[in-house]
Amino acid sequence: MNMTMRSDQIITDWQPHYASLFGNHALALSHSLASSPLFSDDALAALIDKTPREGYHVNYSQKTPGNPPKRREGEIKGLSGRDVLDVVRNGNIWVNLTSPAQTDPAYGKMLDGLYDEFEERVPGFKSYKRNLTILISSPNVSVKYHSDVPGQSLWQVRGTKKLYVYPNTQPFISQPALEKLILGQLRETDMPYESWYDDYAQVYTLDAGKMIHWPLNGPHRVVNEGMLNVSFTTEHWTNELRKHYAVNYANGILRSKLGMQNLSQQVTGASYLAKLGLAGLVKFTPLNPQKQKVYTVDFTVDPLAAEGVRDIEGYTFSK
Ligand SMILES: [Fe+2]
Repeated sequence: MNMTMRSDQIITDWQPHYASLFGNHALALSHSLASSPLFSDDALAALIDKTPREGYHVNYSQKTPGNPPKRREGEIKGLSGRDVLDVVRNGNIWVNLTSPAQTDPAYGKMLDGLYDEFEERVPGFKSYKRNLTILISSPNVSVKYHSDVPGQSLWQVRGTKKLYVYPNTQPFISQPALEKLILGQLRETDMPYESWYDDYAQVYTLDAGKMIHWPLNGPHRVVNEGMLNVSFTTEHWTNELRKHYAVNYANGILRSKLGMQNLSQQVTGASYLAKLGLAGLVKFTPLNPQKQKVYTVDFTVDPLAAEGVRDIEGYTFSK
């Protein structure tokens, strides 16, 4: 069947030459999921109501111009999904639903549907360990400069945000910073951001119905415009991405444990195979969650508090 004739397609403006850009270059596409009933207020409120504690994060950052300061971690207690949406609309928080596909299989079906479409269209693209995160965020919220470990896309469903995508090379991300990211040891200060980086960024205004897929580990940051934003990220792995993960993992060990420098990022040849062996020796378990992360919760979402955020005595939880 000719793809362009399909009426149920998710990506609505696909061109054959995009296959050669996919994963190699930031690619902005249009999609049909902005009108999906899965993202109506009713559906999102019901999803929040069903989400267990380990299935969400709620964050707060002080509003400052430019790159925001470190974010705080919060909790949602005694509020309905509807209440939470109202706080997001009027406050200064963002809610990440980190496993909606586990909470409601309809979201898993959507996730598989969109990857199936890319696999049909991009020869050789075979993805696994797919993950969906839904982001519901307040007007003018911004997300700090960072990189992610798996292959990554951002899909805009409601509202408008600006996305800055930077090259996945030095000085925007150093090789040691990438290794620490992969080893799960990256601290906020390991990923420095300078305002002049923006001169080298690709800047996209993401309206509802737009999505961007960018090259592996590309640093990025996000700034919402003045309205409630509903977006989601999709993450995936491929054999090719996994090779890069393995070589950077091994390089991170060689650098941190043996003080080695000038480490090649090649994913072929003898040195690559030796590194795969090394990764095995240090109990390299690719793609498995590294270790439990500990979060310190110090606010609760409160419709009556300024910005929707009420300070509470801090406590930790891990997942
Ligand atoms: Fe990200």
